[in-house]
Amino acid sequence: MRQIILGAALAVLAPFAAQAQDAAAGEKVFAVCKACHAFGKNGVGPDLKGVIGRKAGTHEGYNYSAAMKNSGLTWDEATFRDYIHDPKAKVPGTKMIFAGQKDDKKVSDLIAYLETQK
Ligand code: HEC
Repeated sequence: MRQIILGAALAVLAPFAAQAQDAAAGEKVFAVCKACHAFGKNGVGPDLKGVIGRKAGTHEGYNYSAAMKNSGLTWDEATFRDYIHDPKAKVPGTKMIFAGQKDDKKVSDLIAYLETQK
């Protein structure tokens, strides 16, 4: 009986634990982005606070490339995933100098982390 209760409790808690882990792993993936990006202020790159769901090239006070400004993209999960995989392929002419993160699991963790920065 005790085992059944314990099992049920774990089944309920597991999804939350997994989410927390992803965001924590994502924070490590974000380390390479930190050279240019912060939350709450623009740097070499635009402020990424609340970026998931935002329209590309629209953060106030940041001087985007024409390519980014005119991309017409919105950073939903699928679009962000494509972009981070290969920025110059998704937005030709972007001034973001980043070769790309090809590891899907790392990109998923990264998205989980960005979702916590709103
Ligand atoms: C060497 C500096 C640099 C690094 C490293 C870098 N970025 Fe960028 N990022 C930029 C610049 C510059 C822009 C603006 C691009 C433009 O205007 O064409 C940008 C734009 C973006 C945008 C579009 C934001 C918007 O407001 O439309 C996203 C999303 C983004 N970066 C995410 C990331 C993530 C996530 C990482 C790490 C995996 C990363 N960047 C690494 C410099 C960088």
